[in-house]
Amino acid sequence: MKNLTFSNGDVMPILGLGTWKSKPGEVYQAVLWAIEAGYRHIDCAAIYNNETEVGKALNKAFSDGLVKREDLFITSKLWNDCHRKEDVKKGLLKSLKDLQLEYLDLYLIHWPISFKKGVGFAESREQFYTYSDVPIGQTWQGMQGVKSEGLVKHIGMSNFNIAKLKEVIAVGGNGPEMNQVEMHPYLRQECLVDFCQSNGILMTAYSPLGSGDRSSSIKKDDEPNLFEDVVIKKLAEKYSITPAQVLISFSIHRGIAVIPKSVNQERIKQNLAATEVELKKEDMDQLLKIEKQYRFIDGTFFTGSHSPYQLSDLWEL
Ligand code: A2P
Repeated sequence: MKNLTFSNGDVMPILGLGTWKSKPGEVYQAVLWAIEAGYRHIDCAAIYNNETEVGKALNKAFSDGLVKREDLFITSKLWNDCHRKEDVKKGLLKSLKDLQLEYLDLYLIHWPISFKKGVGFAESREQFYTYSDVPIGQTWQGMQGVKSEGLVKHIGMSNFNIAKLKEVIAVGGNGPEMNQVEMHPYLRQECLVDFCQSNGILMTAYSPLGSGDRSSSIKKDDEPNLFEDVVIKKLAEKYSITPAQVLISFSIHRGIAVIPKSVNQERIKQNLAATEVELKKEDMDQLLKIEKQYRFIDGTFFTGSHSPYQLSDLWEL
């Protein structure tokens, strides 16, 4: 499988298994199926509330001799309520304990948004209005600290726009190595990709398939379906592959890591097989020219009349 390479020469498999929305009761088996199929990269986060079960699966894979720790690339993410410098390590240690690991390959600040301690992801929308005001530079210093302790090999962020990345870069010292954002043919993020490339920041595409299984509270009724797009369907036919495989291959051809979520064994295998697909340049050009643009994870759940945050804190508008 293709890899992305960090500046120190470490590599990250370009395809990983996404675990957002994978329910406890499903994710254990999904992780084992993925490792058996040949995945070597698993994307996790504290807020997915399933790291304990992912940890059990990893432990099982190691004890059965399926893989060694050093063969896997494991990412997790710092939740919004651990942004104070001294809380970064606490958040990380909890994820390490749950995942039953001694180190992470990659640790990301999940959002450029800080919550008061103990505020999770939304039993009620009012909860989101329990914000705190930790400057992102302070969180970044905490991230640099856990990297220098050797608890994580690489550090970065998710959902950061160019302005927020600049704030972090201005801290100095170890800079961001990864920015994980929503990306697919309807959200190609060209400016952000250019900025990251020219600053040595690798990228990962989340929701590459449009995240059709997310909760109805953060979903619009009339949203488009990438699997039904005419261009994507036509290319799937041309290459005798599925629309999902076109979408995964699209990201890989852009040199962007991609983490489709699945808890279904056949689809887990199918998504891995997409790493073998060779899209011709003219077909990539077609995907890069699709006019329809759409953001599935629109971030409005962090904004509102009581929130200090606006969408311009998250995205290039
Ligand atoms: P499932 O877990 O049942 O396979 P995203 O990665 O953009 O968040 O999308 C995840 C959604 O896409 C889930 O509903 C997942 O369902 C579905 N999915 C994953 N792989 C495929 C595939 N190859 N074909 C169709 N749907 C897929």
